[in-house]
Amino acid sequence: MSRCILYHSHSGTTRRIAKKVKVACGGDLIEVMPQKKYNALTVYVLGGYRAMKGRQDPIEQKKIDVAGYDMVVLGTPVWAGKPTPATNAAIAALQGCEGKKAIIFATCGGKPGETLDIMKKALEAKGVKVIGVYIFTKNDLSDGKRLNELIVRVNASMTE
Ligand SMILES: Cc1cc2nc3c(=O)[nH]c(=O)nc-3n(C[C@H](O)[C@H](O)[C@H](O)COP(=O)(O)O)c2cc1C
Repeated sequence: MSRCILYHSHSGTTRRIAKKVKVACGGDLIEVMPQKKYNALTVYVLGGYRAMKGRQDPIEQKKIDVAGYDMVVLGTPVWAGKPTPATNAAIAALQGCEGKKAIIFATCGGKPGETLDIMKKALEAKGVKVIGVYIFTKNDLSDGKRLNELIVRVNASMTE
């Protein structure tokens, strides 16, 4: 059984979780690459605004074909209580995902808002079955318990 771990990360936290999942569970890491990176100022003014509006940012990957995988893990940072515009674009670019299982996670300061609900709905609209959702707040990031839960869930999904 094969899996891919797809994620966007602006400042490295979501990437760190994605890499730990890869080390613990195996699979291919795919980083969603925005064509233009926000700077320290524009990320809040523009990035946060675009996230709030549910917009998509142009990403390097025209298509993200997951037909060759049995399941997908998808991670995003929370921006303004929503998935990032690059994550929205990644979901739109997903191909070959119908009928696949997915586990989704979001990293945030402490207020995830609607992030995982929005991702779940967008994935389900593409025929993906979301079988697990995980939020990482600042506290979860430091104590490791939530990461363990995510890893156990990803590994268990392989035998379901
Ligand atoms: C533009 C912007 C908006 C954010 N909005 C939220 C928010 O609504 N709630 C929250 O808890 N954290 C928020 N954060 C904090 C990030 O979600 C958190 O630092 C996340 O782990 C960053 O992930 P990354 O390092 O992979 O980019 C925001 C950060 C940025 C840059």
